[in-house]
Amino acid sequence: MTRRSSSTQPPLDADSPRWQLNRAALTAAIAFLLDASNLLELRARLTTVRQRLADPNDPLHAPDGQAVLFLPEVLLAELDQVATAQTLERARYYVQRLQRALDGPRFAPASDIDLHRWKEYDDILTDSLWLIERRDSSGVHRADYWGNFVPQIPHQFIRRYTRPGEWVLDPFAGSGTTLIEARRLGRHALGVELQPAMVQHVQELLATEPTPHATVAAIEQGDSLTVDFADLLARHGARSVQLVFLHPPYYDIIRFSDDPRDLSNAPSIEAFLDRLVSLTRRVATVLDHERYLVLVIGDIYRHGEWYPLGFYAMEAIKACGFRLKSIIVKNFTSTLGKRGSAELWRYRALAGGFYVFKHEYIFLLCRR
Ligand SMILES: C[S@@+](CC[C@H](N)C(=O)[O-])C[C@H]1O[C@@H](n2cnc3c(N)ncnc32)[C@H](O)[C@@H]1O
Repeated sequence: MTRRSSSTQPPLDADSPRWQLNRAALTAAIAFLLDASNLLELRARLTTVRQRLADPNDPLHAPDGQAVLFLPEVLLAELDQVATAQTLERARYYVQRLQRALDGPRFAPASDIDLHRWKEYDDILTDSLWLIERRDSSGVHRADYWGNFVPQIPHQFIRRYTRPGEWVLDPFAGSGTTLIEARRLGRHALGVELQPAMVQHVQELLATEPTPHATVAAIEQGDSLTVDFADLLARHGARSVQLVFLHPPYYDIIRFSDDPRDLSNAPSIEAFLDRLVSLTRRVATVLDHERYLVLVIGDIYRHGEWYPLGFYAMEAIKACGFRLKSIIVKNFTSTLGKRGSAELWRYRALAGGFYVFKHEYIFLLCRR
């Protein structure tokens, strides 16, 4: 079901210019460095290698069938590290690390991130505080749906926790942000959304968004609490998924529809959590073991009291057979609904003795 990329090169930063180096010539250059008998000699040899790299006519830049791709700035930074090493042993360690990059990839779990070339993935976030000031509005991505998440959220997790050709499921698909990102990244994606108008909207978006990798991106109208996920997958030729996004309503903060099945119309916080648990148990049956579920959710403030809905939901999902891998705090930019009322909220906060929400949570959970 999963289709691994045959490429051993990092899949992204496709726009960054790369050196296409001759594998045999580069291997020989590395051996030349490792052969140095003392630090001074190694540094002198390093100068030679750098001069050769700077010369576009050098055989290093004449790739054969097995070209090795390098971001110039990353390779030069690696060589800088060799040059500034204080001992021969340390310098040789850095050269050997470079050599390993030629041996072929060593993938991070559940992804095609090549750990031998980890410095090339500097756009992959690894900290637990995400301050994303501007949403990606490229292509068909739009900010006009109340409560949609920034495309950077699915982008980051799809890259880090799936491989090309794997399957992503989004049972609260909304305006299709996950489906669009998955398509761009060469992953299959299925979404479920309750509102027929949104489903049609997403289908229209998907019809205009290019399909660079011959993958499935489909949305179905339905109630995620009753949809038969196994059947949905089977109809698209899949038996399980490798990543799930749950971006439910934050209880009733935004009422998405009048439909009583809509989670934003749950009669109480308890009922909301019960429904989320019921959905999670069903989703878990199609999510592979040791694969990830991403829950994006915020808290609520009611009757003079802060309800940590995010933590309630996190605990509820953990109890469905998941272990917690990370809690990410992400800045919360105003939704269309709140824009313009910032002053009012500030006044209310001062008068009510509370703080205005400026963050939401992203919980990363792994299916046991
Ligand atoms: C927070 S939004 C998700 C937004 C989405 N991540 C995006 O980027 O557009 C939650 C969505 O869940 C949908 N929804 C609520 N209850 C549902 C249910 N029982 N089944 C399917 N969708 C539901 C709502 O209509 C809404 O579009």
